Amino acid sequence: MHIVAIDQGTSSTRAIVFDADGAIIATGQREHEQIFPRAGWVEHDAAEIWSNTAAVIDEALDAAGITASDVAGIGITNQRETAIVWDRATGEPIHNAIVWQDTRTQTKIDELAADGGIRRFAATTGLPLATYFSASKIAWILDNVDGARERAANGELLFGTPDTWVLWNLTGGPDGGVHATDVTNASRTLLMDLRSLDWDDELLAAFDVPRSMLPEIRPSSEVYGEAKGTALDGTPIAAILGDQQAATFGQAAFERGESKNTYGTGNFLIVNTGEEIVDSENGLVTTVAYQLAGEAPRYALEGSIAVTGSLIQWLRDNLGLFDEAADVERLALSVDDNGGVFIVPAFSGLFAPHWRPDARGAILGLTRFANKGHIARAALEAVAFQTREVLDAVGADTRVDLDELRVDGGMVANDTLMQFQADILGIPVVRPAVIETTALGAAYAAGLAVGLWADRDELRAMWCEDTRWTPGTSDADREKLMARWGKAVSRTLDWVD
Ligand code: G3P
Repeated sequence: MHIVAIDQGTSSTRAIVFDADGAIIATGQREHEQIFPRAGWVEHDAAEIWSNTAAVIDEALDAAGITASDVAGIGITNQRETAIVWDRATGEPIHNAIVWQDTRTQTKIDELAADGGIRRFAATTGLPLATYFSASKIAWILDNVDGARERAANGELLFGTPDTWVLWNLTGGPDGGVHATDVTNASRTLLMDLRSLDWDDELLAAFDVPRSMLPEIRPSSEVYGEAKGTALDGTPIAAILGDQQAATFGQAAFERGESKNTYGTGNFLIVNTGEEIVDSENGLVTTVAYQLAGEAPRYALEGSIAVTGSLIQWLRDNLGLFDEAADVERLALSVDDNGGVFIVPAFSGLFAPHWRPDARGAILGLTRFANKGHIARAALEAVAFQTREVLDAVGADTRVDLDELRVDGGMVANDTLMQFQADILGIPVVRPAVIETTALGAAYAAGLAVGLWADRDELRAMWCEDTRWTPGTSDADREKLMARWGKAVSRTLDWVD
């Protein structure tokens, strides 16, 4: 038997077919349009995302040479926080999806933070007040689409993050679609109480979001319903996990103290804190790691970095420095070092550990000597410096120093970045054999729910190491670079009034 993972990501949607050993046997993938109507606004066409989802399911099953009867279950994983509001009767979105990177709701966030600061709701939600999370995006759609508030009050509109949108459409849409999400995705909305695992009335009132449009919150690994239509017709949907939590699960980081760092559009470092909810005093987010059916949830601390892989895309698309993202490594290796150049990619302000919406990106240290090789190198180094800042925050919050970092995501194919990452962290960086850990985690959770795999120990036994990079710099050199990075970051603050 097989498991199909659907990974609805920020840049593309993929369907990945896994066999019973957790190995990938086929993939279907389609990119969707990134829509930038104004500076700071980022949107997706939710209808395009759904049609791409149906198409990649077809492609993946075709490529694997299997049909729905060979698939034991489907796991959904997704870009988190992105807000979609649609008409329950027609299935039509009433506005483009507002993507997690979008900063249009800063005024609303500032208003709420004026009374109690950005940690006003942190004790309940684990999150700082920020445009990043879904709540202010939902309110924006309700306030800016004609008649939306009234339609929401009449129960005509539904909200979902992309997991919910895919689940609802995959289970029949207007014809009986299941309107649900899992605890990991719900924990990113700024509307869920981390302890009760339910929507919180005080938060719903603060953001002016009606409960009637919100999905039911369920555990991450259980049967949500059956696919109706598409090439997977009749197959149980057996797991939902936000993509970063899915990657944590796919790295077999099931227990307290285990961690992973994913290098995607942004970087997301997660440290499992077991059944304990740890409040961060150092700019991390407290989140749900996963919940198996019938069990208490496992929590985590997360360091969310908005811009890492998307910085490389920006060098490619906006500056035209190379044609393929993978070429950044060759360009970076054309110079001996960064030539004194630092890039702070604060395109959406700075996320963890700073949470400074007023920051904007900067390239510093330019001299007449600097060339595009130095820029490429500085971009890779920015990814590693930001990860080090987050790891320092984890150490400060948990008083535990990690002894290695498990990594995954597209950029971990870049050996130059991985070596620099180990150098700047001062601990080994470990890449597993399967780097598609996001999809793997969703597949693992679905396989558990339908009984393809027995328990976490069986999954842990399937995880295996591929490459290990050990630090090569002295402590003094490492700290000198970090001090310079800190200075660069300080120059980007207070840019937006
Ligand atoms: O929180 C945003 C995150 O879930 C997006 O991940 O991999 O689509 O960039 P990714």
